[in-house]
Amino acid sequence: MPSPSDAQADLIAYLDFHVEAGADAVLDERPHDRFGEADAPAPALRAPRRPAVQAEAPARTLVPPPGSPPPSAAPARTFGRAASAQPDEAASDARARARQAKTLDELERILADFDACPLRFTAKNLVFADGNPAARVMFLGEAPGADEDRIGKPFMGRSGQLLDKMMKAVGLDRSSAYIGNIVPWRPPGNRNPTPQEVAVCRPFVERQIELVDPDIIVCLGAPATQTLTGSKDGILRTRGRLFPYRLPHREVKLLATLHPAFLLRQPVQKRLAWRDFRALRSLLDGKA
Ligand code: URA
Repeated sequence: MPSPSDAQADLIAYLDFHVEAGADAVLDERPHDRFGEADAPAPALRAPRRPAVQAEAPARTLVPPPGSPPPSAAPARTFGRAASAQPDEAASDARARARQAKTLDELERILADFDACPLRFTAKNLVFADGNPAARVMFLGEAPGADEDRIGKPFMGRSGQLLDKMMKAVGLDRSSAYIGNIVPWRPPGNRNPTPQEVAVCRPFVERQIELVDPDIIVCLGAPATQTLTGSKDGILRTRGRLFPYRLPHREVKLLATLHPAFLLRQPVQKRLAWRDFRALRSLLDGKA
């Protein structure tokens, strides 16, 4: 293979730099100079005047004619309904759709067709679940990363390998546990999902929990814990705590613990996670 020219090498270095910085998803075909746009006059004032012969369409007026509907901001980019739906509207639409699902397969299909969460347009795959839906324990993480997005299953990368080891230490594996995420699409560049994205996806994960009907839900990290318990506390405060979680016909237990990604960054905290996993084992054995 010929060696790259200087210009190509510069381009590769430039792309490498962006991938390192987390910008690994292409969102548009053209780059945008957002700083330049901010300095430029507003587009409406820049638009060239139409020649008189093309002026059949009513001329733009700054004052709308009486009785016309109130102006609404045009969406900057169009991602299905995602760009136009308000977060509240999208969340109530999500709730209505999630309720329709009578099985996990139906829920996955409904979610695959749901286009009011913009993350689905940048993700490669829907990451719905892995493991055994008949399991008594359900683990919930935050959102898929690059490996999960590529493979289409949760906890496939380094965090997943650590989760597998932690489960194994208490006699669990993916045939005796069910695993999902609060948000089923990868946020671009592995950023945290926004509160709006979490709110729009939440009815689906709530329905997923109802359909799995586990005895114990284990929330891995603060986002999953906060989303399902409403607690605003940090995970070092909530970990090890059992919260009640209401299912339609019964109340089950929710255990908060540390996320494997956090443990990879701070291995010294594994001793706390080990305590939580032992508590999980006791719960499953009916000893707690
Ligand atoms: N982190 C998560 O929270 N979920 C995954 O699926 C992978 C990493």
